[in-house]
Amino acid sequence: MWGGRFAEGPSAIMREINASIPFDKALWRQDVVASKAHVAMLVACGIVADGDAKAIVEGLDKVAAEYEASGVPEDWDLEDIHMTTEARLAELIGPVAGRLHTARSRNDQVATDFRLWVRDAIDQLVAGLGGLQRALVARANEHAESIMPGFTHLQTAQPVTLGHHLMAYYEMAARDVSRFADARARLNRCPLGSAALAGTGFPIDREMTAQALGFDGPTDNSLDAVSDRDFALDFLAAASACALHLSRLAEEFVIWASQPFGFVRLPDALSTGSSIMPQKKNPDAAELVRGHAGRIVGCQVSLMVTMKGLPLAYSKDMQDDKPPVFEAAGLLQLCIAAMTGMVEGATFRTERMREAAELGYATATDLADWLVRAADVPFREAHHITGAAVKLAEQRGVALDALALDDLQAIDARIDERVYKALNVEASVAARKSHGGTAPDEVRARVAEARMALGMD
Ligand code: ARG
Repeated sequence: MWGGRFAEGPSAIMREINASIPFDKALWRQDVVASKAHVAMLVACGIVADGDAKAIVEGLDKVAAEYEASGVPEDWDLEDIHMTTEARLAELIGPVAGRLHTARSRNDQVATDFRLWVRDAIDQLVAGLGGLQRALVARANEHAESIMPGFTHLQTAQPVTLGHHLMAYYEMAARDVSRFADARARLNRCPLGSAALAGTGFPIDREMTAQALGFDGPTDNSLDAVSDRDFALDFLAAASACALHLSRLAEEFVIWASQPFGFVRLPDALSTGSSIMPQKKNPDAAELVRGHAGRIVGCQVSLMVTMKGLPLAYSKDMQDDKPPVFEAAGLLQLCIAAMTGMVEGATFRTERMREAAELGYATATDLADWLVRAADVPFREAHHITGAAVKLAEQRGVALDALALDDLQAIDARIDERVYKALNVEASVAARKSHGGTAPDEVRARVAEARMALGMD
């Protein structure tokens, strides 16, 4: 493709280090679509003859059919997907194939293909996240009243409802969807026609190609257009945030499935056994979601470091942009699917959760709050009194509401029998009706809003 000025060909090492075809063959569909849009524009602008363009389009369709049927051949001498497709096109239709590359460079070509690929990936991931959100909302609705311990520092803190806990992950997923939508909106400008770096002298119509490829318009600076990978970095940043959320959810499942917790039975379909311990059912899928999240963050860091020192415009370092994006997209899609299956298929052991909520003095704050409300005790003092009650209950090995009224009154005389109402876990969660609080009615209100937002009703 560029042999004209060279006396000898590249060494084996040069060929190997230069070749991106082993991974960028994943762009073949985008490459064909963008080439067809480009040639249609060249015809409309009178740069390529109608008959030549027809031959090129038919040829591209044939190449695409071959790729579809038997995959993209990997010839390192042809470097990348762009050269591979053009070379095959030339074999099929002859020298007229060479007209396709008029007013175009691989630099704007790859930037366009890659944007198209990332845009598709965003759409697929957002669809996947919709499935996860629907699963979370359905299970939250089912468990709007199921009581479990809420934790801080992984120590029992206050009772919450399982529905509330699951809806926390719905909120995270909703932010992920919006981050991907932001990335997509910024991505959606077309670099095609920026050529190598400076634009082109041919009278092209960049609006036309942009529109044909579903972009909002052409990019406005050719140097930026061929050297910008912000769209990939935005994508990876959104992917990292999403992976981090999935990893936290996965971690909860790992902990909850552990026998001392026993809050959940994971679906068999997303668990594995042990080759030596017959009783084992391991949360491997959740653990791998946790693990994959680290790799996805690594992909983001990888591309940031690739880009950080590059002068304008294109440098070959940028060929390394694709593996981290492809890897992150694939891993994330899988992680979303695994966590969706886990949420859908989990058996929540609500009796164990409730028991745990009752065991951990989770309603201590309710006792303090009661002292403030019923006996007008300043909160700091109420906190101290309650601490003494917890200490006594701990010494006796009983729950707070199992302490006799005499015992409580010995700690503080202002306590009376009405306090017991505040100490039970149902009363505790029902009281937390502040917007976004854990009260079952609040959870149902949020679920109803989420169902509307997801079009589930
Ligand atoms: N395979 C290259 C890449 O992925 C295509 C662009 C090549 N451009 C160039 N000037 N060598 O970045």
